[in-house]
Amino acid sequence: MEITEARWHIAGGYGMLAMDIIAALRARGVEPVVTDRDDLDITNPAQVARGFADADIVVNCAAYTAVDAAEEHEDAAFAVNATGPGVIARACAEMGLRLIHLSTDYVFSGDASSPYSEDTPLAPQGAYGRTKAAGEEQIRASEADALIVRTAGLYGRGGPCFPKTIARVGRERGALQVVDDQITQPTWTRDLADLILRLVEAEAPAGIYHGTSSGQTSWFDFAKEVVASAGLGDIVSPCSAEDYPLPAPRPAYSVLGHETLTRLGIAPIGDWRERWALAAPEVLADVLA
Ligand SMILES: NC(=O)c1ccc[n+]([C@@H]2O[C@H](COP(=O)([O-])OP(=O)(O)OC[C@H]3O[C@@H](n4cnc5c(N)ncnc54)[C@H](OP(=O)(O)O)[C@@H]3O)[C@@H](O)[C@H]2O)c1
Repeated sequence: MEITEARWHIAGGYGMLAMDIIAALRARGVEPVVTDRDDLDITNPAQVARGFADADIVVNCAAYTAVDAAEEHEDAAFAVNATGPGVIARACAEMGLRLIHLSTDYVFSGDASSPYSEDTPLAPQGAYGRTKAAGEEQIRASEADALIVRTAGLYGRGGPCFPKTIARVGRERGALQVVDDQITQPTWTRDLADLILRLVEAEAPAGIYHGTSSGQTSWFDFAKEVVASAGLGDIVSPCSAEDYPLPAPRPAYSVLGHETLTRLGIAPIGDWRERWALAAPEVLADVLA
């Protein structure tokens, strides 16, 4: 379907990723309908059916993303990350709408040593990952025309994120320790928004896609790039995840492969370091102001 001819609905539309999807659509002259919890709670079937009545494409950006809090509040996380996507997917299936749903690297075990392919069996290690995996299952069971796009290490101007925290804390304290034994793919919300639009443009078939930057890095190396972009000098030192126990387990190796995109001739997002160099001025603008 043509991006500009479709009627778009962005649910969870006040979040970090949603902000850049909305901007990408507006740049193409499309004004999406944007709702968040107060006007359309994705766990409420009546609100969902009413809210989607005039849509062709629904993007579900709504999520419970507080990874540590989810350990204590798994029911609340399950409602938003699993029940809600099920409600949305069944509505989309019934109404014949295309659904784009966001998922996460946390659905995997995190103990691999080569990139996870799209069809690797799910083995989440914590509550957040379990609820997101359950969301994927609900969507698959609905038989909606759904693209499930897994991402990781998201950062953007529109929300709290790792680079903003590093730049802020680095400025305040002048020294930082960051884990060097967890590997990820830092991904800019603007790049993911662009990929989502390209998937729609390419009429990508229903299925699972990995929407992360290419390459891989430790959080420590990413933090070094961030402080360099922030002009803070050599203030980051490495530590181990064992030194910083957190309520939710973090994956040691969280790298997603891009085979499905490549097979369809859709370019994956570029190398994380090059993308960060482009993103840094925009993402750090409010921290460094
Ligand atoms: N951030 C990351 O590093 C990361 C990594 C991998 C995958 N992801 C996935 O990427 C997607 C976008 O993440 P993000 O960081 O942009 O999320 P975000 O900024 O936390 O935004 C999520 C939005 O959903 C809203 N919401 C919560 N419950 C809702 C409900 N019942 N009905 C409607 N809206 C509701 C939230 O509102 P409130 O603020 O009021 O709760 C918030 O505005 C999510 O699916 C997330 O799981 C993110």
